[in-house]
Amino acid sequence: AVLAVLVVLGAPPAAGEELSGVFQHLTMYECHFINGTERVRFVDRYIYNREQYVHFDSDVGVYVGDTPYGEEMWARPRNRDKQFMKRMRAVADTVCRHNYELVTPFSVERRVPPSVSISLVPSSSQPGPGRLLCSVMDFYPAPVQVRRFQDGQELPEHVVATDVVPNGDWTYQVLVLLESPPRRGVTYSCQVEHVSL
Ligand SMILES: *[C@@H]1O[C@H](CO)[C@@H](O)[C@H](O)[C@H]1NC(C)=O
Repeated sequence: AVLAVLVVLGAPPAAGEELSGVFQHLTMYECHFINGTERVRFVDRYIYNREQYVHFDSDVGVYVGDTPYGEEMWARPRNRDKQFMKRMRAVADTVCRHNYELVTPFSVERRVPPSVSISLVPSSSQPGPGRLLCSVMDFYPAPVQVRRFQDGQELPEHVVATDVVPNGDWTYQVLVLLESPPRRGVTYSCQVEHVSL
């Protein structure tokens, strides 16, 4: 999980005035959680006009310049400030671990079960009975397994499926097509395995 703060500097131009330039200063504070809070890493980045010029990585423990300017003007003065550096080295514990407890219930532990349906889609390229489509909608998190059965027999792994698509609202969907046209008297089913179920 990543927490980020964006700061954009610059006043909007007055009416009729030409915009002389766009300047962007971006500060990113990242908490990396590896296997829960077993290992926590904090990274602090400073980026001007898309160029990172200095960063702090808790695995390293000091600021490191990514450009000569960043090294001279930011990394060295900060690294000399003992009190400040003590606080930065503690952020993985004081901020990241603390925030993990706060955000876990609605992020790490978020579980939304899929709604599953099977439908017949007409074949557009050739005439005929069309194909069966399994729609697995609006689930979270992304990992999912869709198995297809024909009269109780599992069909081989070879599948025509979309990628697992993010809907942009913390849910995902995937569509799986059964390759061969359905035949009368045969029962087809989709079985979905998901951590929410
Ligand atoms: C993850 O952490 C748990 C303890 O919280 C530990 O038992 C387990 O072995 C760890 N898994 C990995 C893959 O490191």
